[in-house]
Amino acid sequence: IPVQIFKNAREGSESVARTIAALIREKQAAGKPCVLGLATGSTPKNLYAELVRMHQEEELSFEGVITFNLDEYYPIEPDALQSYHRFMQEQLFNHVDIRPENIHIPDGTLPKDQVKAWCLAYEEKIAAAGGIDLQILGIGNNGHIGFNEPGSNVNSRTRLIALENTTRLANSYEFSNMAQVPRLAITMGISNILLARKVILLAWGQHKAPVVQRAVEGHNTEQVPASVLQQHPDCTFVLDEQAAAELT
Ligand code: F6R
Repeated sequence: IPVQIFKNAREGSESVARTIAALIREKQAAGKPCVLGLATGSTPKNLYAELVRMHQEEELSFEGVITFNLDEYYPIEPDALQSYHRFMQEQLFNHVDIRPENIHIPDGTLPKDQVKAWCLAYEEKIAAAGGIDLQILGIGNNGHIGFNEPGSNVNSRTRLIALENTTRLANSYEFSNMAQVPRLAITMGISNILLARKVILLAWGQHKAPVVQRAVEGHNTEQVPASVLQQHPDCTFVLDEQAAAELT
C-alpha cells in the first residue's frame, strides 16, 4: 500500500482536502456528480474543517456532491450528541452547500426487522449514484475500517455488526460511561469499501503506529481488516510521522 507521510495531521488533512476538491471540480466540469464515501471519528475532523474553509474562501461547491457515510451506531437517535448524523452535520454538512437529499448515513433508528432490507437499499443507492468515486477511511486500533471488526469477510456487505469491547472503550470518551456506548452498529461492508474507485485511509498519532504497520506490511488477513486494502488497485495511506513510526 503506498503511503504518504506528513509532518502532522493538519498538513496531511490539507493535502487530502486538495485531492477531494480537485475531484469535485473535475466532476463538476464534466457535469457529473461526485460520489464521496465518508468517515467520522476524530481522524477526519481537520479534513472536514479544511473543506469548509475551501467552501467559504475558495468557492468550492458541494452542489453536485453525493455522500455515503460508512457507519452509524445502532440504536441511536440522529440528534444524540454521539450520533454520526450529528457529527457530520456539525463538522461538514451545516457549513457547505450540499443538498440534503444527497446526504446518506446509516439509520440508527430502524426497527431491527427492517435493518436487512434497509442495508440492501443503501447499497442500491450507492450503485444508482454510479458507485463511490473516493472513499475516506480512518482505522481502529484493532484494524477495523468502517465498523468492520476483525474477522469481517472480504465479501461482507452493509450490515448490523457487534462492536468489540476495545472499540467501545476507544469511543467511550464521547459517552458519559462505557455502558452507554451502543453494542451494535450498522456499517458498510468490506466488499462495499473495496468497490470504491479510490480509497484514502488517514491515520494520525503514535497510538495508530502498530496497526498501521500491520495493515501496510503484514499479511493480507481478515484479522486486520485494513490489511485487505492491499488488494485495492488505488488505495493510499496518508499518515503523520507518528503514525508512520513503525513502518520499516
Ligand atoms: C468511523 C469509522 C471508524 C473510525 C475508527 C477510528 O466512521 O469508520 O472506522 O475511522 O474507529 O476512529 P478515530 O478517528 O476516532 O480514531
